[in-house]
Amino acid sequence: MFLTISGATGFIGRRLLKLFPADQHALVVLARKNPRLNPLIHYGHWDPTAAEPSRELLDRADAVIHLAGEPVSQRWTPEVKIAIRDSRILGTRNLVSAIGKLRHRPKTLVCASAVGIYGDRGDDVLTENAKPASGFLPDVCAEWEAEADKAQDYGVRVVKIRIGIALGADGGALAAMAPLFRWGVGGRLGSGKQWMSWIHVDDLAQMIQFAVQNESVSGVLNGVAPNPVTNAEFTRQLAGALHRPALFPAPEFGVKLLYGEMAQILFASQRVQPKAALAAGFNFRYSELRPALDAIFC
Ligand SMILES: NC(=O)c1ccc[n+]([C@@H]2O[C@H](COP(=O)([O-])OP(=O)(O)OC[C@H]3O[C@@H](n4cnc5c(N)ncnc54)[C@H](OP(=O)(O)O)[C@@H]3O)[C@@H](O)[C@H]2O)c1
Repeated sequence: MFLTISGATGFIGRRLLKLFPADQHALVVLARKNPRLNPLIHYGHWDPTAAEPSRELLDRADAVIHLAGEPVSQRWTPEVKIAIRDSRILGTRNLVSAIGKLRHRPKTLVCASAVGIYGDRGDDVLTENAKPASGFLPDVCAEWEAEADKAQDYGVRVVKIRIGIALGADGGALAAMAPLFRWGVGGRLGSGKQWMSWIHVDDLAQMIQFAVQNESVSGVLNGVAPNPVTNAEFTRQLAGALHRPALFPAPEFGVKLLYGEMAQILFASQRVQPKAALAAGFNFRYSELRPALDAIFC
């Protein structure tokens, strides 16, 4: 298979590359600078906000997987908010516009999105049909998905994966949380009642591969495990997996002082179900949190 992948240098992309070995697939990695991954992987320079990617990097690709985007888990200064927005919306617009100009278009575009589109929804069970919320992150996600959807006008099958909290050893949320727990200063956030929709990064990479390979799949897939947990439960399970206590709840006002507006994603409650992926026959290796954490920290 010939695949063009953006964001392949990131936490999820690095895991995804392992599922498409370069000696069995033709791989083009779109990145802002040469990551020097593997001599068999072709590097194509692309800065998503600056311009469209060169057409030869996409021409004859079977599928394009688009993961690039400015990290969201950082303090949202005005400049960072622009970068979060533009890297996704302009970036996807540039990519889709280039796809539209190809003579040999890819069959499939798989584009990242986020469960952030659902906002803060208490105990509501959220499937792919749930109404998107409004606010900075939900609006970014909705526009990001809308840009991806435009590829349908060119006959491309579009899959948008609304990714939850991806868990793995070498990046994502656990890279920030695990050290605190190891030092014995981890704890629940605020009341701990907010739902966390997590997914093991291996399952997420498999879901992206599944979306590429299954022509019957299109539209939105919630990229989360079937058993979300509250933040209090997550805290208990993480402390247990690391054999450390979780004694220090972090008060909401303190976290908000530290992280500013971005803190809202730490307190947003999203009880998301992967209904579409399950209906399409996707099998999760890690459906429950504790085995997922144990596999990560073993
Ligand atoms: N990890 C999660 O838990 C999670 C949850 C929900 C949604 N997602 C979404 O899934 C996608 C991949 O996530 P990830 O955790 O693998 O992300 P990541 O590790 O932060 O990597 C994303 C890649 O995006 C590119 N990038 C970073 N800043 C950029 C900017 N300002 N402009 C253009 N490109 C930029 C980088 O590629 P180059 O340096 O090679 O150009 C980077 O390797 C992201 O869009 C993210 O929003 C992730």
